[in-house]
Amino acid sequence: MNLKITCIPGDGIGPEIVTEAKKVLDKVCKVYSHNISYKDILMGGCSIDAYGVPLTDEAIADAKAADAVLMGSIGGNTSTSPWYKLEPSLRPEAGLLKLRKSLNLFANLRPAYLYPELKDACPLKEATSDKGFDMLIMRELTGGLYFGDRSTVLDNGEMVATDTLVYRESEIRRIAVRAFDVARKRRKSVISVDKANVLDSSRLWRKVVEEVAKDYPDVTLEHMLVDNCAMQLVKDPAQFDVVLTENMFGDILSDEASMITGSIGMLSSASLNDTSFGLYEPSHGSAPDIAGKNIANPIATVLSAAMMLRYSFNLDKEADSIESAVRQVLKEGYRTVDILPKGQESNFKLVSCSEMGDLLADRISA
Ligand code: IPM
Ligand code: MG
Repeated sequence: MNLKITCIPGDGIGPEIVTEAKKVLDKVCKVYSHNISYKDILMGGCSIDAYGVPLTDEAIADAKAADAVLMGSIGGNTSTSPWYKLEPSLRPEAGLLKLRKSLNLFANLRPAYLYPELKDACPLKEATSDKGFDMLIMRELTGGLYFGDRSTVLDNGEMVATDTLVYRESEIRRIAVRAFDVARKRRKSVISVDKANVLDSSRLWRKVVEEVAKDYPDVTLEHMLVDNCAMQLVKDPAQFDVVLTENMFGDILSDEASMITGSIGMLSSASLNDTSFGLYEPSHGSAPDIAGKNIANPIATVLSAAMMLRYSFNLDKEADSIESAVRQVLKEGYRTVDILPKGQESNFKLVSCSEMGDLLADRISA
C-alpha cells in the first residue's frame, strides 16, 4: 500500500517526537512492505516565525492532499513567548483550530489506558490503579466555545470579554453516532458528559444523545455532569468505557485522564471527519521547557501513528505491531524520565527520546 503522509513537527518537543514516530513507521513499512512518503509542513509558532501566520493556505492544501496528517505539538510558553503578544487569531493554537475546522475533523478520539507496567507511575491510590482502566474519550472537536463568536470590548469604562458556546443538533448527533458506534466494538457503554443543570447547550446535548441512543439498544447510556466526571475520573476510572463530550469539557477531561495513565506523554489521539482521512497527534502539548533536550516521551506520538494505520489505512496488524512494541519495551523496563517511578529508579532503564524510538522500532516484527 502507498501511504502519503503530511507531517507537522511543530514547536517545542514536536520535531523530536515526530522524528521517533517516523522511525517506527518506517520500520513497520519495511516489515510489512508498504511505501510511505512524508511531506513536512509548518504550523504554529514556527509558521509564525517563517510567514507571520500560524498556518498558511498552502499548508492546508498540503494537509488535504495527503491520506493522513501526523502531528507533533504546537505552541510555546504562554507567559514568556513573543507569540502570545500577537492577537489571538495569529497565535500558534489558532493554526491548529483552523486546520481542524478546514478539514472538518469533528471527532476526536482519545484513548486512556493504564498499562499494567505503568501502575507505579499512576498517581492514584494503589487499590484504584490495581483495578486498571481502559476508556476512550470521544471529544467533539469543531464546535462549542472554541469556535463561537468572541469579542473583547470597552463597556462603561471597563473591559468586557465574551465567548459563545453554540451547538447545533446536527453537530451533536454526528459525534454521538460515532461514540455509540465505537462503544459497540468495546464494552457497550457510553457515559455522556455535560452541564445540563446550567447550560442550554448541554440540555440540547442530552436530548439529542438520548435520541441517538434509541438506535443502539445494545449500548447502555448514562449521563454525568462534568464536575462529577472530573471527580469520578480520579475516584473510579474503571467505570468508564466511552466518554462522550463537547469540545472544552473533552479538552480538560482528556488531560486529566492522561495524567492518571502515569504521564501525559502516553496519550494518543485521532481527529476524524466523515472520510478515512485523519489527523493524528499526541494529546499533550509542546513542553517548551524540555524541548531540544532529547528527554521527551515519544510514545504518545508513536501510538498516534498506530491509530493512523488503523483508522486511515485499515492496517490493523501493522497497528497491533506498534502497540505490542510499546508494551514490550515497557515490560523490559525501559522508561523515559516522565514515566520513571520516583524512588524506584534503579529497577528501570532510563532512556532518551531517540533511544525510546530505536527500541520501539527494533521490536516491530510481522
Ligand atoms: C488539545 C490542545 C488544543 C485544544 C489547543 C492547543 C488549541 O489543548 O489538543 O487538547 O485545546 O484543543
Ligand atoms: Mg488540551
